[in-house]
Amino acid sequence: MGSKFVIKGGNRLTGKVKIGGAKNSALKLMAASLLTEEPSTLTNVPLITDVRIMAAVLERLGAVVSYTDPDIIEIKFGNSLHAEAPYELVSQMRASIIVLGPLLARLGRARVAMPGGCNIGSRKIDMHIRGLEALGARIEVGQGFIEAVSEKLVGSKIALDYPSVGATENLLMAATLAKGVTVIDNVAREPEIVDLANFLNKMGAKIEGAGTPTMRIEGVGSLHGVEYSVMPDRIEAGTLLVAGAITGGDIVIEGAIPQHLDLAISKLKNTGAAVDISNKEIRIKGGSATKPIDIATLPYPGFPTDLQTQFMALLSIADGTSIITENIFENRFMFVNELNRMGSDVRTEGRHAIIKGIPKLLGTTVTAPDLRGGAALAVAGLAAEGVTEVLDIYHIDRGYQNFEHKLQALGADVERVGEKEPSNVLKVVGNR
Ligand code: UD1
Repeated sequence: MGSKFVIKGGNRLTGKVKIGGAKNSALKLMAASLLTEEPSTLTNVPLITDVRIMAAVLERLGAVVSYTDPDIIEIKFGNSLHAEAPYELVSQMRASIIVLGPLLARLGRARVAMPGGCNIGSRKIDMHIRGLEALGARIEVGQGFIEAVSEKLVGSKIALDYPSVGATENLLMAATLAKGVTVIDNVAREPEIVDLANFLNKMGAKIEGAGTPTMRIEGVGSLHGVEYSVMPDRIEAGTLLVAGAITGGDIVIEGAIPQHLDLAISKLKNTGAAVDISNKEIRIKGGSATKPIDIATLPYPGFPTDLQTQFMALLSIADGTSIITENIFENRFMFVNELNRMGSDVRTEGRHAIIKGIPKLLGTTVTAPDLRGGAALAVAGLAAEGVTEVLDIYHIDRGYQNFEHKLQALGADVERVGEKEPSNVLKVVGNR
Protein backbone atom coordinates (compact mmCIF):
# COMPACT_ATOMS: atom_id res chain seq x y z
CA MET A 1 0.00 0.00 0.00
CA GLY A 2 1.28 3.45 -0.83
CA SER A 3 1.57 6.19 1.71
CA LYS A 4 -1.09 8.66 2.78
CA PHE A 5 -1.48 11.90 4.68
CA VAL A 6 -3.58 11.86 7.81
CA ILE A 7 -4.71 15.40 8.55
CA LYS A 8 -6.60 16.62 11.60
CA GLY A 9 -8.20 19.79 10.32
CA GLY A 10 -8.89 23.03 12.13
CA ASN A 11 -5.45 24.31 13.09
CA ARG A 12 -4.81 27.91 12.14
CA LEU A 13 -1.47 28.03 10.32
CA THR A 14 1.05 30.55 11.65
CA GLY A 15 4.75 31.20 11.15
CA LYS A 16 7.27 31.38 8.33
CA VAL A 17 7.98 28.94 5.53
CA LYS A 18 10.68 28.94 2.87
CA ILE A 19 9.97 28.13 -0.75
CA GLY A 20 12.16 25.68 -2.65
CA GLY A 21 13.34 25.64 -6.26
CA ALA A 22 10.76 25.43 -9.03
CA LYS A 23 9.95 21.96 -10.34
CA ASN A 24 8.95 23.27 -13.75
CA SER A 25 12.22 25.14 -14.13
CA ALA A 26 14.59 22.57 -12.61
CA LEU A 27 13.42 19.83 -15.01
CA LYS A 28 14.12 22.01 -18.06
CA LEU A 29 17.49 23.26 -16.81
CA MET A 30 18.49 19.64 -16.27
CA ALA A 31 17.52 18.83 -19.86
CA ALA A 32 19.36 21.93 -21.10
CA SER A 33 22.56 20.57 -19.56
CA LEU A 34 22.48 18.11 -22.46
CA LEU A 35 23.50 20.94 -24.76
CA THR A 36 27.15 20.90 -23.69
CA GLU A 37 29.78 18.31 -22.93
CA GLU A 38 30.97 20.48 -20.04
CA PRO A 39 29.55 19.84 -16.55
CA SER A 40 26.81 22.10 -15.23
CA THR A 41 25.87 22.60 -11.60
CA LEU A 42 22.35 23.45 -10.52
CA THR A 43 21.67 24.79 -7.06
CA ASN A 44 18.32 25.22 -5.28
CA VAL A 45 17.06 22.02 -6.92
CA PRO A 46 13.88 20.69 -5.30
CA LEU A 47 14.14 17.14 -3.93
CA ILE A 48 11.03 15.73 -5.58
CA THR A 49 10.19 12.62 -7.54
CA ASP A 50 10.05 14.37 -10.92
CA VAL A 51 13.62 15.61 -10.51
CA ARG A 52 14.71 12.06 -9.71
CA ILE A 53 12.95 10.81 -12.83
CA MET A 54 14.61 13.46 -14.98
CA ALA A 55 17.98 12.55 -13.45
CA ALA A 56 17.31 8.91 -14.37
CA VAL A 57 16.39 9.96 -17.94
CA LEU A 58 19.63 11.93 -18.25
CA GLU A 59 21.62 9.01 -16.86
CA ARG A 60 20.08 6.73 -19.49
CA LEU A 61 21.19 9.27 -22.09
CA GLY A 62 24.75 8.95 -20.83
CA ALA A 63 25.05 11.62 -18.14
CA VAL A 64 26.68 11.30 -14.78
CA VAL A 65 24.33 13.04 -12.34
CA SER A 66 25.66 13.55 -8.84
CA TYR A 67 24.38 15.34 -5.78
CA THR A 68 27.02 17.36 -3.99
CA ASP A 69 24.40 18.52 -1.49
CA PRO A 70 20.71 17.64 -1.11
CA ASP A 71 19.74 20.56 -3.35
CA ILE A 72 22.81 20.81 -5.60
CA ILE A 73 23.32 18.57 -8.60
CA GLU A 74 26.11 18.33 -11.08
CA ILE A 75 25.32 17.00 -14.53
CA LYS A 76 28.09 15.89 -16.82
CA PHE A 77 27.54 14.47 -20.26
CA GLY A 78 30.96 14.38 -21.81
CA ASN A 79 30.86 12.82 -25.25
CA SER A 80 29.07 9.63 -24.29
CA LEU A 81 25.62 10.78 -25.34
CA HIS A 82 22.94 8.23 -26.32
CA ALA A 83 19.94 9.15 -28.42
CA GLU A 84 17.20 7.06 -26.85
CA ALA A 85 14.94 7.96 -23.92
CA PRO A 86 13.08 4.75 -23.05
CA TYR A 87 9.42 4.21 -22.28
CA GLU A 88 9.83 3.01 -18.70
CA LEU A 89 11.18 6.44 -17.76
CA VAL A 90 9.35 8.74 -20.17
CA SER A 91 6.02 7.09 -19.27
CA GLN A 92 6.51 8.20 -15.69
CA MET A 93 6.80 11.86 -16.56
CA ARG A 94 5.54 13.71 -19.57
CA ALA A 95 8.09 16.48 -19.15
CA SER A 96 10.73 13.99 -20.38
CA ILE A 97 9.72 15.03 -23.91
CA ILE A 98 11.84 18.10 -23.24
CA VAL A 99 15.01 16.14 -24.06
CA LEU A 100 13.91 15.88 -27.71
CA GLY A 101 15.11 19.34 -28.80
CA PRO A 102 18.47 19.26 -26.97
CA LEU A 103 19.22 15.71 -28.20
CA LEU A 104 18.54 16.71 -31.79
CA ALA A 105 20.68 19.82 -31.46
CA ARG A 106 23.59 17.92 -29.91
CA LEU A 107 23.45 14.56 -31.71
CA GLY A 108 21.40 15.11 -34.83
CA ARG A 109 19.07 12.31 -33.79
CA ALA A 110 16.71 11.38 -30.99
CA ARG A 111 14.36 8.54 -30.18
CA VAL A 112 12.03 9.44 -27.34
CA ALA A 113 9.15 7.29 -26.11
CA MET A 114 5.72 8.91 -26.31
CA PRO A 115 5.19 10.56 -22.95
CA GLY A 116 2.87 9.62 -20.11
CA GLY A 117 2.86 11.47 -16.79
CA CYS A 118 0.20 13.46 -15.01
CA ASN A 119 -3.20 12.14 -15.94
CA ILE A 120 -4.81 15.48 -16.68
CA GLY A 121 -6.01 15.28 -20.21
CA SER A 122 -4.71 14.33 -23.59
CA ARG A 123 -1.63 16.50 -23.64
CA LYS A 124 -0.40 16.81 -27.17
CA ILE A 125 3.01 17.43 -28.69
CA ASP A 126 2.10 18.49 -32.22
CA MET A 127 3.61 21.96 -31.78
CA HIS A 128 6.89 20.50 -30.53
CA ILE A 129 7.05 18.36 -33.66
CA ARG A 130 6.05 21.03 -36.18
CA GLY A 131 8.51 23.50 -34.67
CA LEU A 132 11.44 21.07 -34.80
CA GLU A 133 10.50 20.22 -38.39
CA ALA A 134 10.66 23.93 -39.20
CA LEU A 135 14.26 23.85 -37.90
CA GLY A 136 15.02 21.08 -40.38
CA ALA A 137 14.37 17.89 -38.41
CA ARG A 138 12.64 14.89 -40.00
CA ILE A 139 10.29 13.37 -37.48
CA GLU A 140 8.29 10.18 -37.45
CA VAL A 141 5.82 9.18 -34.81
CA GLY A 142 4.99 5.53 -34.49
CA GLN A 143 5.28 2.37 -32.38
CA GLY A 144 5.13 4.44 -29.18
CA PHE A 145 8.26 6.37 -30.11
CA ILE A 146 9.11 9.68 -31.72
CA GLU A 147 12.08 9.35 -34.03
CA ALA A 148 13.82 12.52 -35.11
CA VAL A 149 16.88 13.05 -37.26
CA SER A 150 18.50 16.10 -38.72
CA GLU A 151 21.67 17.34 -40.26
CA LYS A 152 22.67 20.55 -38.51
CA LEU A 153 19.46 22.33 -37.44
CA VAL A 154 18.86 25.58 -39.30
CA GLY A 155 17.28 28.72 -37.83
CA SER A 156 13.79 29.53 -39.03
CA LYS A 157 10.73 31.67 -38.39
CA ILE A 158 8.14 29.80 -36.35
CA ALA A 159 4.71 30.89 -35.11
CA LEU A 160 3.14 28.73 -32.41
CA ASP A 161 -0.63 28.18 -32.62
CA TYR A 162 -0.75 28.52 -28.85
CA PRO A 163 1.85 29.60 -26.28
CA SER A 164 2.69 26.07 -25.12
CA VAL A 165 5.25 26.01 -22.33
CA GLY A 166 6.83 22.70 -23.37
CA ALA A 167 6.93 23.48 -27.10
CA THR A 168 8.49 26.89 -26.43
CA GLU A 169 11.18 25.25 -24.29
CA ASN A 170 11.96 22.43 -26.72
CA LEU A 171 12.29 24.84 -29.65
CA LEU A 172 14.27 27.36 -27.64
CA MET A 173 16.84 24.74 -26.65
CA ALA A 174 17.08 23.28 -30.15
CA ALA A 175 17.53 26.74 -31.68
CA THR A 176 20.47 27.68 -29.45
CA LEU A 177 22.76 25.40 -31.49
CA ALA A 178 21.04 25.84 -34.88
CA LYS A 179 22.76 27.57 -37.77
CA GLY A 180 21.53 31.15 -38.08
CA VAL A 181 18.65 33.00 -36.48
CA THR A 182 15.37 31.56 -35.20
CA VAL A 183 12.42 33.80 -34.42
CA ILE A 184 9.53 32.21 -32.53
CA ASP A 185 6.23 34.06 -32.28
CA ASN A 186 3.47 33.48 -29.75
CA VAL A 187 5.83 31.85 -27.27
CA ALA A 188 4.91 31.07 -23.67
CA ARG A 189 5.87 33.85 -21.24
CA GLU A 190 5.97 31.84 -18.02
CA PRO A 191 8.72 32.83 -15.54
CA GLU A 192 10.18 29.33 -16.02
CA ILE A 193 10.81 30.20 -19.70
CA VAL A 194 12.73 33.29 -18.60
CA ASP A 195 14.72 31.16 -16.14
CA LEU A 196 15.59 28.70 -18.92
CA ALA A 197 16.63 31.51 -21.28
CA ASN A 198 18.81 33.04 -18.55
CA PHE A 199 20.44 29.65 -17.96
CA LEU A 200 21.05 29.14 -21.68
CA ASN A 201 22.43 32.67 -22.10
CA LYS A 202 24.79 32.02 -19.21
CA MET A 203 25.92 28.90 -21.13
CA GLY A 204 26.73 31.16 -24.07
CA ALA A 205 23.47 31.15 -26.03
CA LYS A 206 22.14 34.32 -27.66
CA ILE A 207 18.48 34.60 -26.77
CA GLU A 208 16.47 37.81 -26.71
CA GLY A 209 12.87 38.44 -25.81
CA ALA A 210 12.25 35.80 -23.12
CA GLY A 211 9.16 36.86 -21.17
CA THR A 212 7.67 38.59 -24.25
CA PRO A 213 5.55 37.00 -27.01
CA THR A 214 8.47 36.83 -29.48
CA MET A 215 11.87 35.31 -28.92
CA ARG A 216 14.89 35.68 -31.17
CA ILE A 217 17.65 33.11 -30.93
CA GLU A 218 20.93 33.48 -32.74
CA GLY A 219 22.51 30.04 -33.01
CA VAL A 220 26.02 29.56 -31.62
CA GLY A 221 28.62 26.87 -32.32
CA SER A 222 28.73 25.45 -28.82
CA LEU A 223 27.66 26.10 -25.24
CA HIS A 224 29.62 25.73 -22.03
CA GLY A 225 28.88 24.43 -18.55
CA VAL A 226 27.69 26.85 -15.85
CA GLU A 227 26.55 27.04 -12.26
CA TYR A 228 23.00 28.31 -11.86
CA SER A 229 20.41 28.64 -9.10
CA VAL A 230 16.89 27.43 -9.96
CA MET A 231 14.19 30.09 -9.54
CA PRO A 232 11.75 29.73 -6.61
CA ASP A 233 8.63 27.63 -7.11
CA ARG A 234 5.70 30.00 -7.58
CA ILE A 235 3.21 27.12 -7.45
CA GLU A 236 4.52 25.84 -4.12
CA ALA A 237 4.29 29.43 -2.85
CA GLY A 238 0.72 29.78 -4.16
CA THR A 239 -0.30 26.47 -2.59
CA LEU A 240 1.00 27.53 0.82
CA LEU A 241 -0.67 30.94 0.50
CA VAL A 242 -3.98 29.17 -0.02
CA ALA A 243 -3.21 26.93 2.99
CA GLY A 244 -2.75 30.13 5.03
CA ALA A 245 -6.00 31.60 3.74
CA ILE A 246 -8.19 28.50 4.12
CA THR A 247 -7.18 28.04 7.77
CA GLY A 248 -7.72 31.72 8.61
CA GLY A 249 -4.02 31.70 9.45
CA ASP A 250 -1.23 34.26 9.45
CA ILE A 251 1.84 33.03 7.57
CA VAL A 252 4.88 34.46 5.84
CA ILE A 253 6.23 32.92 2.66
CA GLU A 254 9.95 33.48 2.28
CA GLY A 255 12.00 33.33 -0.89
CA ALA A 256 9.22 33.55 -3.48
CA ILE A 257 9.17 36.21 -6.19
CA PRO A 258 5.90 38.06 -5.50
CA GLN A 259 5.54 39.39 -9.08
CA HIS A 260 5.28 35.80 -10.32
CA LEU A 261 2.13 35.52 -8.22
CA ASP A 262 0.51 38.87 -9.06
CA LEU A 263 -2.81 37.50 -10.20
CA ALA A 264 -3.01 34.75 -7.57
CA ILE A 265 -2.34 37.34 -4.87
CA SER A 266 -4.95 39.73 -6.18
CA LYS A 267 -7.48 36.86 -6.31
CA LEU A 268 -6.61 35.95 -2.71
CA LYS A 269 -7.23 39.56 -1.70
CA ASN A 270 -10.60 39.41 -3.45
CA THR A 271 -11.52 36.43 -1.26
CA GLY A 272 -10.98 38.66 1.76
CA ALA A 273 -7.45 37.65 2.77
CA ALA A 274 -4.96 40.40 3.67
CA VAL A 275 -1.74 40.05 1.70
CA ASP A 276 1.36 42.17 2.32
CA ILE A 277 4.45 42.06 0.18
CA SER A 278 7.87 43.18 1.28
CA ASN A 279 10.91 42.38 -0.76
CA LYS A 280 10.91 38.56 -1.03
CA GLU A 281 8.36 37.93 1.69
CA ILE A 282 4.65 37.52 1.26
CA ARG A 283 2.47 37.62 4.37
CA ILE A 284 -1.08 36.37 4.21
CA LYS A 285 -3.71 36.71 6.90
CA GLY A 286 -6.88 34.76 6.27
CA GLY A 287 -10.14 36.62 6.80
CA SER A 288 -12.92 35.37 9.05
CA ALA A 289 -15.07 34.65 5.97
CA THR A 290 -14.13 33.79 2.40
CA LYS A 291 -15.79 35.80 -0.38
CA PRO A 292 -16.68 34.01 -3.62
CA ILE A 293 -14.70 34.95 -6.75
CA ASP A 294 -14.50 33.85 -10.37
CA ILE A 295 -11.30 32.54 -11.94
CA ALA A 296 -10.31 31.65 -15.51
CA THR A 297 -7.00 29.88 -16.06
CA LEU A 298 -4.87 31.25 -18.89
CA PRO A 299 -1.25 31.17 -20.04
CA TYR A 300 1.03 33.46 -17.99
CA PRO A 301 0.52 36.24 -16.96
CA GLY A 302 -3.00 34.81 -16.64
CA PHE A 303 -4.13 32.74 -13.68
CA PRO A 304 -2.05 29.53 -13.51
CA THR A 305 -3.83 26.24 -14.11
CA ASP A 306 -1.43 24.74 -11.56
CA LEU A 307 -3.16 26.75 -8.79
CA GLN A 308 -6.73 26.20 -9.95
CA THR A 309 -7.42 23.16 -7.74
CA GLN A 310 -6.05 24.74 -4.56
CA PHE A 311 -8.21 27.84 -5.13
CA MET A 312 -11.24 25.62 -5.65
CA ALA A 313 -10.64 24.06 -2.23
CA LEU A 314 -10.62 27.57 -0.73
CA LEU A 315 -13.74 28.68 -2.62
CA SER A 316 -15.62 25.54 -1.55
CA ILE A 317 -16.12 27.21 1.84
CA ALA A 318 -16.86 30.71 0.53
CA ASP A 319 -19.99 32.71 1.39
CA GLY A 320 -21.61 32.31 -2.02
CA THR A 321 -21.08 30.86 -5.47
CA SER A 322 -17.85 31.02 -7.49
CA ILE A 323 -17.10 29.92 -11.04
CA ILE A 324 -13.78 28.52 -12.17
CA THR A 325 -13.12 28.14 -15.90
CA GLU A 326 -10.26 25.83 -16.86
CA ASN A 327 -8.92 26.86 -20.25
CA ILE A 328 -5.60 25.00 -20.38
CA PHE A 329 -6.22 21.31 -19.62
CA GLU A 330 -9.59 19.68 -20.25
CA ASN A 331 -9.28 17.16 -17.45
CA ARG A 332 -8.16 19.20 -14.48
CA PHE A 333 -11.39 18.78 -12.57
CA MET A 334 -10.69 15.15 -11.69
CA PHE A 335 -10.28 15.97 -8.03
CA VAL A 336 -13.76 17.53 -7.83
CA ASN A 337 -15.46 14.21 -7.05
CA GLU A 338 -13.01 13.71 -4.20
CA LEU A 339 -13.53 17.24 -2.89
CA ASN A 340 -17.29 16.67 -3.00
CA ARG A 341 -16.76 13.60 -0.82
CA MET A 342 -15.66 16.13 1.82
CA GLY A 343 -19.07 17.80 1.58
CA SER A 344 -18.36 20.52 -0.96
CA ASP A 345 -20.99 21.44 -3.53
CA VAL A 346 -19.13 21.66 -6.86
CA ARG A 347 -20.73 20.90 -10.21
CA THR A 348 -18.74 20.82 -13.44
CA GLU A 349 -20.05 21.63 -16.89
CA GLY A 350 -17.36 21.21 -19.51
CA ARG A 351 -14.65 23.74 -18.80
CA HIS A 352 -16.61 25.35 -15.95
CA ALA A 353 -16.92 24.45 -12.30
CA ILE A 354 -19.71 26.03 -10.29
CA ILE A 355 -18.74 26.09 -6.65
CA LYS A 356 -21.53 26.74 -4.15
CA GLY A 357 -19.81 27.62 -0.91
CA ILE A 358 -20.67 25.55 2.15
CA PRO A 359 -20.00 26.47 5.80
CA LYS A 360 -17.56 23.62 6.49
CA LEU A 361 -15.72 20.75 4.81
CA LEU A 362 -15.91 17.40 6.58
CA GLY A 363 -12.92 15.10 6.92
CA THR A 364 -13.07 11.76 5.14
CA THR A 365 -10.87 9.51 3.00
CA VAL A 366 -10.03 10.91 -0.44
CA THR A 367 -7.63 9.87 -3.19
CA ALA A 368 -5.18 12.20 -4.92
CA PRO A 369 -5.88 11.89 -8.66
CA ASP A 370 -2.88 13.93 -9.80
CA LEU A 371 -0.24 16.32 -8.47
CA ARG A 372 -2.15 19.57 -8.03
CA GLY A 373 -5.47 17.89 -7.28
CA GLY A 374 -3.71 15.94 -4.52
CA ALA A 375 -2.21 19.11 -3.05
CA ALA A 376 -5.65 20.74 -3.11
CA LEU A 377 -7.19 17.83 -1.18
CA ALA A 378 -4.48 18.12 1.47
CA VAL A 379 -5.12 21.87 1.71
CA ALA A 380 -8.86 21.18 2.02
CA GLY A 381 -8.11 18.71 4.81
CA LEU A 382 -6.36 21.45 6.80
CA ALA A 383 -9.66 23.30 7.07
CA ALA A 384 -12.00 20.32 7.34
CA GLU A 385 -13.75 19.24 10.50
CA GLY A 386 -12.32 15.95 11.78
CA VAL A 387 -9.77 13.71 10.08
CA THR A 388 -9.01 13.67 6.36
CA GLU A 389 -6.94 10.90 4.86
CA VAL A 390 -5.39 11.66 1.47
CA LEU A 391 -4.37 8.47 -0.34
CA ASP A 392 -1.95 8.08 -3.26
CA ILE A 393 0.25 10.95 -2.14
CA TYR A 394 2.99 9.78 -4.47
CA HIS A 395 1.36 12.26 -6.84
CA ILE A 396 2.05 15.09 -4.37
CA ASP A 397 5.65 13.90 -3.90
CA ARG A 398 6.20 14.44 -7.63
CA GLY A 399 6.14 18.19 -7.14
CA TYR A 400 6.27 19.20 -3.46
CA GLN A 401 9.39 18.76 -1.38
CA ASN A 402 8.82 18.16 2.33
CA PHE A 403 5.17 19.12 1.94
CA GLU A 404 4.00 17.74 5.28
CA HIS A 405 7.09 19.04 7.09
CA LYS A 406 6.46 22.56 5.84
CA LEU A 407 2.82 22.35 6.89
CA GLN A 408 3.79 20.88 10.29
CA ALA A 409 6.23 23.75 10.86
CA LEU A 410 3.29 26.11 10.34
CA GLY A 411 1.29 24.27 12.99
CA ALA A 412 -0.74 21.86 10.86
CA ASP A 413 -1.61 18.45 12.29
CA VAL A 414 -0.53 16.33 9.34
CA GLU A 415 1.29 13.03 9.28
CA ARG A 416 2.59 10.73 6.58
CA VAL A 417 1.60 7.14 7.15
CA GLY A 418 3.27 4.37 5.16
CA GLU A 419 6.49 4.58 3.22
CA LYS A 420 8.73 7.53 3.90
CA GLU A 421 8.96 10.41 1.45
CA PRO A 422 11.01 9.04 -1.43
CA SER A 423 14.59 9.86 -0.64
CA ASN A 424 17.21 10.83 -3.09
CA VAL A 425 18.08 7.72 -5.10
CA LEU A 426 21.19 9.34 -6.44
CA LYS A 427 24.35 9.13 -4.47
CA VAL A 428 25.42 12.19 -2.53
CA VAL A 429 29.08 12.40 -3.31
CA GLY A 430 30.09 15.03 -0.77
CA ASN A 431 31.17 18.60 -1.41
CA ARG A 432 33.52 18.92 -4.30
C1 UD1 B 1 3.70 22.94 -18.38
C2 UD1 B 1 3.87 22.62 -16.91
C3 UD1 B 1 2.53 22.38 -16.25
C4 UD1 B 1 1.61 23.56 -16.49
C5 UD1 B 1 1.52 23.86 -17.99
C6 UD1 B 1 0.70 25.10 -18.30
C7 UD1 B 1 6.02 21.52 -16.79
C8 UD1 B 1 6.77 20.25 -16.54
N1 UD1 B 1 4.68 21.43 -16.77
O1 UD1 B 1 3.14 21.79 -19.00
O2 UD1 B 1 2.73 22.21 -14.84
O3 UD1 B 1 0.33 23.24 -16.02
O4 UD1 B 1 2.85 24.07 -18.52
O5 UD1 B 1 1.19 26.19 -17.60
O6 UD1 B 1 6.60 22.58 -16.97
N2 UD1 B 1 -0.68 21.45 -26.37
C9 UD1 B 1 -0.98 21.03 -27.66
N3 UD1 B 1 0.06 20.74 -28.50
C10 UD1 B 1 1.37 20.84 -28.13
C11 UD1 B 1 1.67 21.26 -26.82
C12 UD1 B 1 0.62 21.57 -25.96
O7 UD1 B 1 -2.14 20.94 -28.03
O8 UD1 B 1 2.26 20.55 -28.94
C13 UD1 B 1 -1.78 21.75 -25.44
C14 UD1 B 1 -1.81 20.79 -24.25
O9 UD1 B 1 -2.53 19.62 -24.57
C15 UD1 B 1 -2.48 21.63 -23.20
C16 UD1 B 1 -2.02 23.06 -23.53
O10 UD1 B 1 -1.55 23.02 -24.86
O11 UD1 B 1 -3.87 21.57 -23.35
C17 UD1 B 1 -0.94 23.58 -22.62
O12 UD1 B 1 0.19 22.75 -22.69
P1 UD1 B 1 1.68 23.28 -22.39
O13 UD1 B 1 1.68 24.76 -22.21
O14 UD1 B 1 2.56 22.69 -23.44
O15 UD1 B 1 1.97 22.61 -20.99
P2 UD1 B 1 3.15 21.65 -20.58
O16 UD1 B 1 4.44 22.17 -21.10
O17 UD1 B 1 2.76 20.25 -20.88
